[in-house]
Amino acid sequence: MNTLDQLVYCSRSRLAPDDERAAVLDIVHVAAFLNARNGITGALTLQDGVFVQLLEGSPSALDILMLHLHFDERHEDIEIVARGRIERRAFPAWGMTAPTPGPCGVLSRLIVERSDDLTAWREAMDALLAEPA
Ligand SMILES: Cc1cc2nc3c(=O)[nH]c(=O)nc-3n(C[C@H](O)[C@H](O)[C@H](O)COP(=O)(O)O)c2cc1C
Repeated sequence: MNTLDQLVYCSRSRLAPDDERAAVLDIVHVAAFLNARNGITGALTLQDGVFVQLLEGSPSALDILMLHLHFDERHEDIEIVARGRIERRAFPAWGMTAPTPGPCGVLSRLIVERSDDLTAWREAMDALLAEPA
């Protein structure tokens, strides 16, 4: 039986605002490739200078990725806000995807609250993905 965890972290972007778009595309490109190798799926978004990333995979694969992320100078103040066991993946089709949101009230509120409600984060990310690009 393969154990699956899902986690959400917030971090503060250190990207220059002018470079953000290209840099996020670059992160997603590399992440999609590496995550496919490591059995990780998820979604990443950047709102008001804060990265929110939802990740799902085996607990050990997620722990190793979080270690790598801590050494990545493109962001800082990484905080895991929610983590839990899941039965099935919410984003099975995405090695990594980054919906480019307009201002999203629900997400802003979750970020401010640093909510620990995994379901609320999942629904907010899901809603972003459903938006037309
Ligand atoms: C906001 C953000 C999200 C990232 N997401 C992932 C990810 O989902 N998977 C991944 O392998 N690398 C991700 N990276 C890149 C890693 O930090 C790291 O560069 C990559 O895993 C390669 O590891 P290495 O540089 O230690 O060789 C992300 C980086 C940032 C800044």
